[in-house]
Amino acid sequence: MTGSRLLGTGSALPRRVVTNAELAERVDTSDEWIVARTGIRQRYIAEDDETTSTLAIAAARAALADAGVDAASIGLIVLATATPDNTFPATATKVQQALGCNGGIAFDVAAVCSGFLYAMSVADSLLTTGMAKRALVIGAETFSRILDWEDRTTCVLFGDGAGAVVLEAPLGEAQGPDAPGILAARLHADGAHHDLLYVDGGPSTTQTTGHVRMKGPEVFRHAVVNLSAVLKEVLEDAGVSADALDWVVPHQANARILDATAKKLGISPDKVIVTVQDHANTSAASVPLALDVARKDGRIKAGDLVMLEAMGGGFTWGASLIRL
Ligand code: COA
Repeated sequence: MTGSRLLGTGSALPRRVVTNAELAERVDTSDEWIVARTGIRQRYIAEDDETTSTLAIAAARAALADAGVDAASIGLIVLATATPDNTFPATATKVQQALGCNGGIAFDVAAVCSGFLYAMSVADSLLTTGMAKRALVIGAETFSRILDWEDRTTCVLFGDGAGAVVLEAPLGEAQGPDAPGILAARLHADGAHHDLLYVDGGPSTTQTTGHVRMKGPEVFRHAVVNLSAVLKEVLEDAGVSADALDWVVPHQANARILDATAKKLGISPDKVIVTVQDHANTSAASVPLALDVARKDGRIKAGDLVMLEAMGGGFTWGASLIRL
């Protein structure tokens, strides 16, 4: 049965742009190295008055406006983040309060860079079982707050931002293959790789927020293998070939991962939405941010078949196929 339908998208970025050249004044790196190894040219960095919730609220408002629906009709908010405003309560409850749709369901999902894929599937399940009729699914991060700005192997890779989508419950009857909605989705996790990508702090261990630690080359190798495998699974579940895809909206970690994954599946690079040059890796925000950019600039249109995919710390990874 076709799943929840996407009614609108929105995104938000901090005011301040930080270029590679600006970073090179602070750490031992260069614009040439960053562009050649990652494709990143700039990132947005939150200022003191910009937090995960302020970015999430702005993205949510933009998605509601795009969908043409009132905040009052939202019965479920699922917010993916690894950088919440506070350890608790969930940042989703701050979004709910700001939008004035109190009383429904609101919670955060922690799956780092795959967080938006996890959040979409959780929201789709709750909508499918009738727990709510309409949902906001948000990916929002201020990763700049957990970066070690002395560590050139990680600090050049990430940025801040938020993206959001409005989902509506499935119609509840059999739909044809061209009907809008989520057609298939898969999620995975493998805790064996904790030490390849993690934050070295937390409330229950160090009582500090900690900093991102990553073994980049190992993560790179796992990312290409895991992402191609999950994309194949979702295509098989939906009974469609890679050729049928209009667009792939991948997690924006590194242009080389996007190229290698598309190549492995025989997907033309022209069908892959790439925004990593402008935003760097915004973790859970990157997929909805890229989706919003490509819808607003007219590339992704109603009726298109779109694959969303991501991989992140945990490891966690997943993909979701949706007809817009
Ligand atoms: N500027 C300049 N040089 C740098 C640098 C920087 N910012 N960061 C690392 N280097 C150096 C290294 O010290 C190393 O030098 P050495 O050869 O003298 O030891 C050299 O560049 C190559 O480093 P390496 O880590 O092997 O480079 P790489 O080609 O694997 O690229 C990443 C590094 C991090 C860009 C790449 O591995 C990557 O993108 N991995 C995936 C990360 C990711 O996507 N994580 C998020 C998943 S959600």
